[in-house]
Amino acid sequence: MHGARPVKPLISRASGALKGEARVPGDKSISHRALMTGALAVGESHIEGLLEGDDVLCTAAALRALGARVERRAPGSWIVSGLGVGGLGEPDQVLDMGNSGTGARLLMGLVATHAFTAHFTGDASLVRRPMARVTAPLERMGANFLTRSGARLPLAVIGTDAPVPISYRLPVPSAQVKSAILYAALNTPGETTVIEPQPTRDHTELMLRHFGAELRVETQTDGARAVTLVGQPELTARDLRVPADISSAAFPMVAALLAPGSDVTLPEVGINPLRAGLIETLREMGADLRLINERSIAGEPVADIVVRGGPLTGVEVPAARAPRMIDEYPILAVAASCARGATRLRGLAELRVKESDRLSAIARGLSACGVRVAVDGDDLTIEGTGAPPCGGARIESELDHRIAMAFLVLGLVAREPVAVDDGRPIETSFPVFETLMNRLGARIEAA
Ligand code: S3P
Repeated sequence: MHGARPVKPLISRASGALKGEARVPGDKSISHRALMTGALAVGESHIEGLLEGDDVLCTAAALRALGARVERRAPGSWIVSGLGVGGLGEPDQVLDMGNSGTGARLLMGLVATHAFTAHFTGDASLVRRPMARVTAPLERMGANFLTRSGARLPLAVIGTDAPVPISYRLPVPSAQVKSAILYAALNTPGETTVIEPQPTRDHTELMLRHFGAELRVETQTDGARAVTLVGQPELTARDLRVPADISSAAFPMVAALLAPGSDVTLPEVGINPLRAGLIETLREMGADLRLINERSIAGEPVADIVVRGGPLTGVEVPAARAPRMIDEYPILAVAASCARGATRLRGLAELRVKESDRLSAIARGLSACGVRVAVDGDDLTIEGTGAPPCGGARIESELDHRIAMAFLVLGLVAREPVAVDDGRPIETSFPVFETLMNRLGARIEAA
């Protein structure tokens, strides 16, 4: 998506305390789902606070190619005129999902139970990412796929005209896989069940309910979560407001914790319990984080988060918590590198198949900044000294927005500036990152 924009090297330098209030952009996961669900509902849905990052713009373009009317009325304010469940039409162009795994995987589910063929591609990062995790269950529902080696993009989805409901136990904890199946199940007769041994973010379930679908969530005797969707519902257009993205709020949150004397408020942040593992972990590390004005918007819990700077201590983060904070490990690793003592992050296998191999990118970047790190299988240990790391490195962002933002935050507290070779990937999820951070007092600039 950012191919046409010039390369954007950035550098961040030690700043003083961060102060003020800043609303981070809308939640990326919820924004994708708001557009997709609106496209399947009958009538006009009005969405406020939509994330206008590249990933979500790719989803908007793909939905238009599939026949829905998706229009921007004002910043963050969008209207979607849906086609009803089963109403999508064959696109006459390849759907280019840019950098977005969520966009690609959820839309593959959505089209799998429409009787037409759709082609998907993406950028150099997305075409490396594994797709078998979605093609396997969708094939069981009747769809066919023609993929590149390793079940990777570019690929064609040959949708079925006779979808069958399935019961599917997720082999990897992935909200994207669960959601792809649930979106496919919308146009499938009967009941489809997804069983999650490790619960993942439930935005799809909440969104589908908000639009009128019938969904049951049960806990099985072994503790697994079973989500059952009754197929072929009438979805009706709804209005909704997208909460601020906790995965974006994580960057100013950690920056404020690490810069002594900081006092930052982040309003209306989504604190869905299946996303809030970072808050739990930072509090265990001794962070001064307060949630105020807790309320709910469109079925999603939100709060204003008040952060004050202060010392952190190393902790052990169990593998079981990973699905609840999967996108937050890069910035947590930065927090750990400034904490006193070792932090052990367990069970990070899924980090290897994100926008980059994040486990390697974190370890490589931290060592380049003078932090002692060790990777042992799927675990990462970071030795913090309680003092600012050296910094002074140039980090490759590897088409990964969260790697770029995490290391720019490290540069705000390190002894020497930290440069990032290309800040363009930040446009996927947090287009106003630099401006918002600098308004709070950070020093991030063009290198
Ligand atoms: C997402 C799920 C997660 C997460 C991604 C967004 C979603 O991926 O990393 O950024 O919106 O469902 P997985 O489901 O692959 O873990």
